[in-house]
Amino acid sequence: MNIAVFASGRGTNFSAIARAIKKGKLEANLALLVCDQPNAPVISKAKRAGVKVALVKREDFASIEDFENKIIQHLEENKIDLIVLAGFMRILGPQLVSRYQNKILNIHPALLPAFKGAHAIKDAFDYGAKITGVTVHFVDEKMDHGPIILQQAVKIREVDTLESLEKKIHQVEHKIYPQAIRLVAEGKIRIEARKVKIIAQKAWPK
Ligand code: GAR
Repeated sequence: MNIAVFASGRGTNFSAIARAIKKGKLEANLALLVCDQPNAPVISKAKRAGVKVALVKREDFASIEDFENKIIQHLEENKIDLIVLAGFMRILGPQLVSRYQNKILNIHPALLPAFKGAHAIKDAFDYGAKITGVTVHFVDEKMDHGPIILQQAVKIREVDTLESLEKKIHQVEHKIYPQAIRLVAEGKIRIEARKVKIIAQKAWPK
């Protein structure tokens, strides 16, 4: 299975996925990074890992359709089977979403449908939530929305600071994103009435 990761920033999830593949925990080919930010640290991480980079900047295109057509061209050239959004800070348009229906995953640093948006960790912390977490889901046409594959809760304790909470959330992300990708790659997922059913989940190797 050929995977493209879409990212706009640091790329710690990109690295976690690349690591899981390298260690043989996840059988997939990380074929492409699609990035929309020329200065994003994820670009050098991809280059170091030997992963091809497609830098596609929104401002180089007159319309969102042209921008996404360019992305689709890169995906087709690289025979991509699965798109993995990892901090790609854009809402995908209907062209991409319908072309890759049930073939786009996203990770969100909260327990959806709570705390959607770009600042979910801070929003949950500032709200005073006692429990937040991480969600991996299929992407549909709405932001941070679509059938949920995996979720893991993270407690917010009184001693937590925003920084300590961010650290805990990212640790969970780096663990469950490769696991969710493996479920999809191994065909262990069925979507029925917008709900994900997991068929015979194997233990994740230590
Ligand atoms: C991750 O925490 C991811 O959950 C979040 O962006 C971060 C990217 O970090 N995504 C969203 O908030 C989507 N709404 P990374 O670049 O270090 O992987």
